[in-house]
Amino acid sequence: MSPHPILAPFPMSRPRRLRRTQGLRDMVTETGLSSKDLIWPVFVTEVEGADIEIPSMPGVSRYTVDSVKGAAEQAAKLGIPAICIFPHSDEALRTETCERAWDPDNIGNRAIRAVKEAVPEMLVMTDIALDPYNANGHDGIVRNGIILNDETVECLERMALVQAEAGADILGPSDMMDGRIGALRRALEKRGHKDVAIMSYAAKYASGFYGPFRDAVGAAGRLVGDKKTYQINPANREEAMRCVARDLSEGADMVMVKPGMPYLDICREVRDRFGAPTFAYQVSGEYAMIEGAIRQGWLSRDVVTESLLAFRRAGCDGILTYFAPQVAEALA
Ligand code: PBG
Repeated sequence: MSPHPILAPFPMSRPRRLRRTQGLRDMVTETGLSSKDLIWPVFVTEVEGADIEIPSMPGVSRYTVDSVKGAAEQAAKLGIPAICIFPHSDEALRTETCERAWDPDNIGNRAIRAVKEAVPEMLVMTDIALDPYNANGHDGIVRNGIILNDETVECLERMALVQAEAGADILGPSDMMDGRIGALRRALEKRGHKDVAIMSYAAKYASGFYGPFRDAVGAAGRLVGDKKTYQINPANREEAMRCVARDLSEGADMVMVKPGMPYLDICREVRDRFGAPTFAYQVSGEYAMIEGAIRQGWLSRDVVTESLLAFRRAGCDGILTYFAPQVAEALA
């Protein structure tokens, strides 16, 4: 008996028949990858001289408000529909109260306006979390060593509104505070931003794979402790499903799983259980592993598209990846 009910036993069935030529293989390909599936995360700095390559992310540099326009033009040319902006702010402007996070003229908001001005059709996604503006590197307000939930959500609301006013198309709350999606959605509706989408970092794990990102935004040296009281334990699957269900019920338009490759089981399950637009974030540490091994000559560059195809096979509608321009160019 064949283990698959409709598969004839060997030799009537020979799966290699359909792998014989490129034409046959193309004919039975189940998933595709296109530049339209990619969201490109970019770092934008306001610090003089910091628009340089990030040592733990070879090939990835920070942009300035001026040079990010060129990145947006490059993305548009390559058919990448969206850019996600991550701010690297001036050390001196990071405080315990994080008020810079909702300053309409902070580096993130200036970058949103710059991209929309340069390439109006480029979708701009943002990051909503306090870490780039926080003196202690956490995503929330910290008091006596505790990351405060409700006080943080109030800050995130202010952040969301100024980002929407700056022209953001998609807000990306990455903070993992409870109740933030509902709060943001209500605030947006009240202020007339009815068409601003929310892609919730719904299943965001407390992961070691974010290390290089924290270097990129300058939060690494500042972070006191870890993020385990708000991000999900990597051992948990059902908890992630509850978080996705909750965020959708509070008004998220799309959900994200993060990190990506080590969590493909979560991607598949979220897609199957909820059927909502599902994205994965191939995070900085995944980029560093792959790009680092390629540069060492230990892996061939083909693994980049293979890694992204895996997300599509796992059910993801799209992927946030630092490889976006490289892959879009290869696909073109
Ligand atoms: C911060 C944030 C992080 C990432 C995106 N937004 C880091 C963290 O939670 O510590 C990670 C992205 C990456 O590693 O590429 N709220």
